[in-house]
Amino acid sequence: MSQFSTVVIDNGTGYTKMGYAGNMEPSYIIPTVLADAINKGTTKVASQNQKFENPELDFFIGDDAFAHQKSHNLQYIIRSGQIENWEAMEKFWHRAIYSQLRCEPEEHRFILTEPPLNTPENREQMAEIMFETFNVKGLFIGVQATLALYAQICGPQSDVKSFSKGDLTGTVIDSGDGVTHVFPVSDGFVIGSCVKHIPLAGKDITKFILQQLRDRGEPVPADDAMDIAQKVKERFGYVCKDVVKEYKKFDEKTLDESTGKIVQSNKFKKYVHKQTMTGATFEIDIGYERFLGPEMFFHPEFIHNDWRSPLDEIVDNSIQSCPIDTRRKLYENIVLSGGSTLFKDFDQRLNKQVQQRVDDRLKQYETLTGQAPKPIKVNVSQNMVQRYAVWFGGSVLGSQEHFQKVCHSREDYMERGPSICRHNPLFPQGF
Ligand SMILES: Nc1ncnc2c1ncn2[C@@H]1O[C@H](COP(=O)(O)OP(=O)(O)OP(=O)(O)O)[C@@H](O)[C@H]1O
Ligand SMILES: [Mg+2]
Repeated sequence: MSQFSTVVIDNGTGYTKMGYAGNMEPSYIIPTVLADAINKGTTKVASQNQKFENPELDFFIGDDAFAHQKSHNLQYIIRSGQIENWEAMEKFWHRAIYSQLRCEPEEHRFILTEPPLNTPENREQMAEIMFETFNVKGLFIGVQATLALYAQICGPQSDVKSFSKGDLTGTVIDSGDGVTHVFPVSDGFVIGSCVKHIPLAGKDITKFILQQLRDRGEPVPADDAMDIAQKVKERFGYVCKDVVKEYKKFDEKTLDESTGKIVQSNKFKKYVHKQTMTGATFEIDIGYERFLGPEMFFHPEFIHNDWRSPLDEIVDNSIQSCPIDTRRKLYENIVLSGGSTLFKDFDQRLNKQVQQRVDDRLKQYETLTGQAPKPIKVNVSQNMVQRYAVWFGGSVLGSQEHFQKVCHSREDYMERGPSICRHNPLFPQGF
């Protein structure tokens, strides 16, 4: 890797993934939060050992921000994938670049990511901050879906040499902390009119699990409540095949012949938590929420009063609204991206339910026309870099030879201004 390799930063609603192109994993995955000084007029003692000469630098990002939330003003920077607080974003980037990645931005090209259908104004604002505040050497703003597809096609399981532009066709399901998106991509371009947005993602499942634990009277300390619910979700959550059958599995009791006692199903788990402030230990019983939380994808009405369309219906509708000649390939290559797609058996349940919808439609067609159509094989695939597929796509792109041709340079920016970043094609002309 060259000394001045490209920096890749994927700012998500919940987590920022950052590191250098050419690596398999981001160097840092930290919460996208900022804890800013409450009173900037005076120089404050930020922690017992640390004094800030310049109050402007009295702020923290990531886990450090949570650690300072009592003395500082905690700010969430991104909502549903969109940057909401630009001032906070700029500070976050500042600390991320200089203190975490420890790089001189003027010597590096940068890849940032954006949600689908991001506005050109947002893209220009990103460019303005990157070129004018950080004076970066070059900038490319990649659409998250396209980068995730890039990761799957050029990823660790594939043969990079056989890659061509036409292979960049597939349906990406990106479900992170704040938002879930379904986006069909054809030949490297997101089919914008067919992108579907679902207002449910990881944070909603975490809140649901917390509510279940509280309703049952589990000892969840208020200070760490969301953190506990998130850990329970990530450690014990899974997608079941059938909710009614799964309840039964939990309710099955057996007789332990050695003790003569009736014992509960081993589906129940225990989570032991040490409270941050007091060090006290709590034991929390985990039950049905293991599968009821992730069931949100298939029965959203469990969590959300107004949102009733299951994920498989959204995926099917999205593909059906695409041009007819792309549909087969879009069903055959459904790619998962983002932390909330990591639940065990998520891929299998989605595969089965989308296939069911496709088969029902083909059967209907046969009944109406008397002709048997060619079957369509739905394929939802997992991949090794699913947790940070968007970041990994950027890592691959940034290490490819053609990247320099598509990356906007500082000289271009100086000459033509932020509007150069309105378009960020993945491939140079004639690729
Ligand atoms: N093993 C796991 N099982 C289930 N959920 C997980 C797992 N690991 C992480 N998550 C969840 O994934 C979410 C974070 O994923 P990700 O980093 O893709 O989101 P993001 O990019 O910050 O958000 P967004 O893409 O919505 O803007 C969190 O809600 C986290 O709890
Ligand atoms: Mg994301």
